[in-house]
Amino acid sequence: MSNDQKRAHDVFTAGISNGEYGLAPEDVVVMERGEGPRLWDTSGREFLDFSMAWGSCLVGHARPEVVEAVSRQAPLGSNFAYLNTQVLALGEEIRRISPASERLRFCASGTEATMYCQRVARGFTGRNKVLKFEGAYHGANEAGVTSLFPHKLLDFPKPELTSAGTPAMADLLLVAPYNDLETTRQIIDANAGELAAVIMEPLQRCTPPHNGFLEGVRELCTANGILLIYDEVVTGFRLAYGGAQEYYGVIPDLVAYGKALGGGYPIGAFGGRVDVMEMVNEHRIGGDDYVWMASTLGGNPISTAAANATLSVFRTPGTYDHLHNLGDYLRQGMRRVLSDRGLTGQIIGDGPLAQVVFSGEPAFNYRSTNKGDKALARKTMLGLFRRGVFLNPMGTKLYLSIAHDEYIINEFLNRFDDSLGEAV
Ligand SMILES: Cc1ncc(COP(=O)(O)O)c(C=O)c1O
Repeated sequence: MSNDQKRAHDVFTAGISNGEYGLAPEDVVVMERGEGPRLWDTSGREFLDFSMAWGSCLVGHARPEVVEAVSRQAPLGSNFAYLNTQVLALGEEIRRISPASERLRFCASGTEATMYCQRVARGFTGRNKVLKFEGAYHGANEAGVTSLFPHKLLDFPKPELTSAGTPAMADLLLVAPYNDLETTRQIIDANAGELAAVIMEPLQRCTPPHNGFLEGVRELCTANGILLIYDEVVTGFRLAYGGAQEYYGVIPDLVAYGKALGGGYPIGAFGGRVDVMEMVNEHRIGGDDYVWMASTLGGNPISTAAANATLSVFRTPGTYDHLHNLGDYLRQGMRRVLSDRGLTGQIIGDGPLAQVVFSGEPAFNYRSTNKGDKALARKTMLGLFRRGVFLNPMGTKLYLSIAHDEYIINEFLNRFDDSLGEAV
């Protein structure tokens, strides 16, 4: 092991500071800097970044406009835990483009944003249960990590814990199959009086919604007084400037943001209808109609300055055509590599997102995706990592950024081909 690897393993569990990756000890590297779509480790080795900080650096690493905005704000104070000029401008811009966000509040991560949405929904409706779709990640909160990677595949709507240490969720969480409106309808019909909310990623991980699925879920929620929560931590500002709401044209009651909004700086935000968001109005404190919400770092002027600069970069004409063209180019290229090698697989995703599933059958929700050859997927991703492609080999989801181009994707495709050659 190198000195860096030894130091990392001495201080961090599995040698990693923030979780996931699941690298062998000898594969751990320490990153030193990033620029555009590239990262460099302490040995000077260059990586093509196909993770982009799990999608939070959609604007690219060290984008000059973002660096400048943060540098301008830093000497003026980094946090007041209070309303400031940067968060005010950002809140106005989000409200302008997010129909669901009549009122907003800021926090510091996607995990908090989705947690608050669920709490507000429970408070508003006076009901206890939330329905999620199997395999969806909504952050590290309880609902987010239940039925995340289930292996027992219990009958719907029974939840399965993915993380030890989370309380049994049977009384709080129902689980439905994504893209299966009929089963979802049956679960909602049977539990309508107890359901506060349905929480969903409109594009679940890389799985696009079937025609009519989002509209159907919206109708079921409206008909039963259930709040619809869109977790737009990934889709927000990525599929379109107005996120999944704009892209699919279906409007939820509450929406959670994070990741790309902050341009790589810690951020979370949630918004909703005026009457729903009144639940966090502190003038109600002490009453049964008050939902606790507070965040020390929420809306801090550094993160929100970065976000304002990031959003002005995203507003540059052509941004979303570029992101969609790059995504198409990557997905088509990956399909070509598979077919040239005679391998069966699905390349799923939309916009600047792509994922390989080594399965002959269409992958449209957790159970169908789960049929894929996971050992081959893991080998391929680890092989890419060893070939200088930075990604999270715990899964197969790839993130592009506005800094990517066809040249870097071609380079990725060569390494994908090499890695497959070794893995099969
Ligand atoms: C869809 C979704 N929601 C929520 C989160 C949680 O965001 P954070 O890691 O900022 O807490 C993530 C993170 O990967 C995510 O992918």
